[in-house]
Amino acid sequence: MESYIADWLNLLMRWLHMIVGIAWIGASFYFVWLDNHLLPPRNKDDAARRGVAGEVWAVHGGGFYHAQKFLVGPKGEPLSDHLHWFKWEAYATWFSGMGMLAIVYWWGAHAYLIDKSVLDISVPTAIAISFFSLVTSWFIYDALCKLIKSELALGIVLFIFIVAATWGYSQVFGARAAYIHVGSMIGTWMVWNVFFHVIPGQEKMVTAIRAGRDPDPLPGLIGKQRSVQNTYFTLPVLFVMISSHYPMTYAHQYGWVVLAVIMLAGALIRQYFVLRHFGRNVVSLPLIAIVLLAGLAVWLAPRSTPVAPGAAAVPYAQIELILAQRCVACHAEQPTFPGFQQAPNGLKLDTPELVKAAAPRIAQQTIATKAMPIGNITKMTDDERSLLGKWLATGASIK
Ligand code: HEC
Repeated sequence: MESYIADWLNLLMRWLHMIVGIAWIGASFYFVWLDNHLLPPRNKDDAARRGVAGEVWAVHGGGFYHAQKFLVGPKGEPLSDHLHWFKWEAYATWFSGMGMLAIVYWWGAHAYLIDKSVLDISVPTAIAISFFSLVTSWFIYDALCKLIKSELALGIVLFIFIVAATWGYSQVFGARAAYIHVGSMIGTWMVWNVFFHVIPGQEKMVTAIRAGRDPDPLPGLIGKQRSVQNTYFTLPVLFVMISSHYPMTYAHQYGWVVLAVIMLAGALIRQYFVLRHFGRNVVSLPLIAIVLLAGLAVWLAPRSTPVAPGAAAVPYAQIELILAQRCVACHAEQPTFPGFQQAPNGLKLDTPELVKAAAPRIAQQTIATKAMPIGNITKMTDDERSLLGKWLATGASIK
């Protein structure tokens, strides 16, 4: 019953996380687009008298929209009473994301967070590291942003910091959890940027304008800097959020290098679109990203276990026992592993025919990567993996 309830909480939380995440990132993409498409106002009076810095005309949903940007508020006219804020989407994304982290990785820590072959830690220790590392990372990130003035230098330093954190997490948690923590870390920075910098800056501006004072542009500028950074984080973070479907990435021996390459490709693609908004078509950016991803695909390609030509097929009896000891507790019609009520991903390995049918999937999860058994919880040995590999390479016989 407990795992059934966990499944429902997981489902609802994931659904919510996706909805609010789309609302947040969608709005964020829209505003970056809007900002980068501003043209000088058509009506000269708007610029001279009302302080309009730029405007956009757009057509959507059967009508025309005319958005105008005032850098520090309109001149000589009050702000609208119906000012829309964009913050709850961001906060809700963070809370639902933390909810997911708690349901999947804290509640299920013994299977999803801890990998005893990586580091033998207790559940409370693992959860404490999970939570406090995310919080601590924010203070480091925030300090770096204040310290380093050059945008480019800051970008490089942050990239190195993120790669180092990826490596660090991979030394503490299971491979899949390590990835998710990198995504949660950057996601936390993004939301806390909104909470600690963007929104307070805007609140100060609004207060000043409503009180008839000239607003200090500085908080707005800091907020803008953080918003721009958030743009580059988006694609890398979104990849991490779907990465648990792709053990070829996270469960690779050098999973942290794989993630670094994918994040770099994501940031380059985002940069291409940002520049394109300004009418600059720097195709070298996506081209580099494609070359990086293609190189990665070649590097990660599974290699079958080498066998001598004419080698005898490994008999099924030899691997049946391995599967029974290492896999069937979860992957069975009726799993016996605590916390599993149904075979995960519907994959059952309790008859030879089922095993045969799943042979390519088994190869992918246990030989090409060590994603299975999850967290190596059933302590599969390297000898067993190589025997399984030989069985697959010699035709996966079930006799
Ligand atoms: C503790 C339970 C557990 C054990 C033991 C376990 N698995 Fe899994 N397995 C899972 C879970 C959970 C997933 C789903 C992971 C996810 O959410 O993507 C999974 C997914 C898989 C998949 C991916 C299915 C697909 O959609 O292609 C394969 C293949 C697999 N396991 C094979 C194995 C093999 C082979 C073993 C034994 C060497 C094994 N597993 C041991 C829990 C387990």
